[in-house]
Amino acid sequence: MLVLGIESSCDETAAAIVENGRTIVSNVISTSVAEQALYGGVVPEIASRRHAEFISATVQKAFSDAQLTPADLDAVAVTFAPGLIGAVLVGVSFAKGLAYSANKPLVGVHHLRGHIAALYLTHPDLKPPFLCLVASGGHSHIVQVEDYTRFHVLGRTVDDAAGEAFDKVARTLGLPYPGGPSVANAAKTGNPHAYRLPVPHVEGKYNVSFSGLKTAVLNAVNQAQMKGEPISVPDMAASFQERIDSILADKLLLAAQDTGAKTICLAGGVAANGRLRALLNEGAQKLGARLCLPRTALCGDNGAMIAAQGYYEYQAGNRAGLDLNGLPTLPIDYQ
Ligand code: KG4
Ligand code: ZN
Repeated sequence: MLVLGIESSCDETAAAIVENGRTIVSNVISTSVAEQALYGGVVPEIASRRHAEFISATVQKAFSDAQLTPADLDAVAVTFAPGLIGAVLVGVSFAKGLAYSANKPLVGVHHLRGHIAALYLTHPDLKPPFLCLVASGGHSHIVQVEDYTRFHVLGRTVDDAAGEAFDKVARTLGLPYPGGPSVANAAKTGNPHAYRLPVPHVEGKYNVSFSGLKTAVLNAVNQAQMKGEPISVPDMAASFQERIDSILADKLLLAAQDTGAKTICLAGGVAANGRLRALLNEGAQKLGARLCLPRTALCGDNGAMIAAQGYYEYQAGNRAGLDLNGLPTLPIDYQ
């Protein structure tokens, strides 16, 4: 079964064709990230406009790379929530037009479910149930993936998402957007024990909180500036990365231990972080659990993950009508 996946919830305009939810036939990503970097973050209005400009050529390239036409598809899947609403609606409207004109079923896909499905594209034998940390620019969830379309949220951030914390700390340190890769890069030459950063207290055993950590970095930078002392960007980047990654890894491993999960996974843009991947590798080995990580190229937003999840939503009988709307927020365990 061939599914086209369309993604436009943030600053990537992406389209891909995936066979049976597991095999990528084509995968095309256009992005306005360089332009967004000029503003230090995503400007929703610019994202929407660039999606409108890029989407036809992106989808066309997904077809030409795959040497397929819309008539060959079995379904059209599209991210309908959560995300920047103006951006989401560009993908949703385009997908509807395509589904209508090609007379194909339309499937709405939850963006975070899509991030989890990137794991199916990397590990052909991975099947639910498993425990997954989904960490992106807008969300940080510890989720029990009970089945392909059934999820139970064990914990979440009570304030900033992990990716958002990376982005804000990068800005404080004068590093470019997106913050995750630039903090990770600066951290390579830094000492992770140079600055003592707090572990924020949070209610809820599997919840996380990053706003206090972000403020601690900001305070340290401000205090150094007031005293006329230099701050070492590599050392602060490394100290922050070590702290946030160990909080994320510890929470996921604690949840794995408590629930007896045999397979633990990581997904979302922050899953590209090398130190987080290494910490989870060590922890999973100690627990005797299998660790599955998405291929780095599939951690960020892409159409293949939406097509993969679209396949499983379709198999579960979830079809959207041509009145499908976009939603800025929606829990991952929606019914
Ligand atoms: O999943 P994603 O591509 O988009 C959203 O759904 O939000 O995640 C983007 C987030 C950004 O905050 C970015 O800074 C972060 O993922 N990110 C990283 C890394 N690469 C991207 N965070 C830490 N380390 C990285 N290597
Ligand atoms: Zn995402």
